[in-house]
Amino acid sequence: MEELFYEIFTELPRQGPGDHDSTIKALRAIPELPAAVRVLDVGCGTGNQTIDLAGEINGKIVAIDNYQPFLDRLEYNAAKHGLSDKIEIRLEDMFNLHFKEESFDIIWSEGAVYILGLEKALKQWKKFIKPQGYVVVSEFNWLVEEPPGEVYDYFMQESVHATDKEGSRNIISNAGYALITDFMIPKDDWYEFYNKLEEVLVLFRDIKADDRSALGVIGSFQYEIDLFRKYPGTYGYVFYIMQKRG
Ligand SMILES: C[S@@+](CC[C@H](N)C(=O)[O-])C[C@H]1O[C@@H](n2cnc3c(N)ncnc32)[C@H](O)[C@@H]1O
Repeated sequence: MEELFYEIFTELPRQGPGDHDSTIKALRAIPELPAAVRVLDVGCGTGNQTIDLAGEINGKIVAIDNYQPFLDRLEYNAAKHGLSDKIEIRLEDMFNLHFKEESFDIIWSEGAVYILGLEKALKQWKKFIKPQGYVVVSEFNWLVEEPPGEVYDYFMQESVHATDKEGSRNIISNAGYALITDFMIPKDDWYEFYNKLEEVLVLFRDIKADDRSALGVIGSFQYEIDLFRKYPGTYGYVFYIMQKRG
């Protein structure tokens, strides 16, 4: 069933909520960048944000994901945009990174840091960042004090162990980073993401009409979309732009 999950998400322009403007806003929030910057994009997916970043920076992005078809799509898109020289694509597991210490100016991760967990990610990534280098993530946060039970239960079941903005800020500080700024991605990005996902689900419901377990997975995504529409503003993605201390 994991394969179906990936098949569905390969059909989307992005594998999570976000957009060009938020990516560029986060990049511009970094006060000082070296002339030739080296970026690691963790959990790049098909690399919408990788392309956005590559179009904006001088330097190189190493884009990693553990699903080869996403990387193949990124390779195709990078060539289409004339950005292949700026993007090195690698199949890597974010739980077990193979890079030289202090080899990146920025570690970037949109919508994927929850997989490792913010605290663990920040601790593990630290050694790969150059002194005074940066980490930029978009992280799932609860936006209300008490999320509705059905929303909370759904995300717990999906292993999204989220906190609120205050919680994330504490994690950042305790992990040895100075928060430069944070901002929430527009709520419309979630509507756009879920609307596109819903269109793809309609197709897959047809294709998998005889496959009960596939229909179960499709139903679970639909449930997430329905919950979002029922309880808008319960959760969101917050961009955190931070600098390694020490
Ligand atoms: C929600 S998607 C975000 C993709 C992209 N950054 C975006 O915002 O569109 C999460 C990504 O993390 C990748 N991923 C999941 N587990 C991973 C792992 N262990 N190592 C590397 N990438 C992983 C998935 O394949 C997927 O592309």
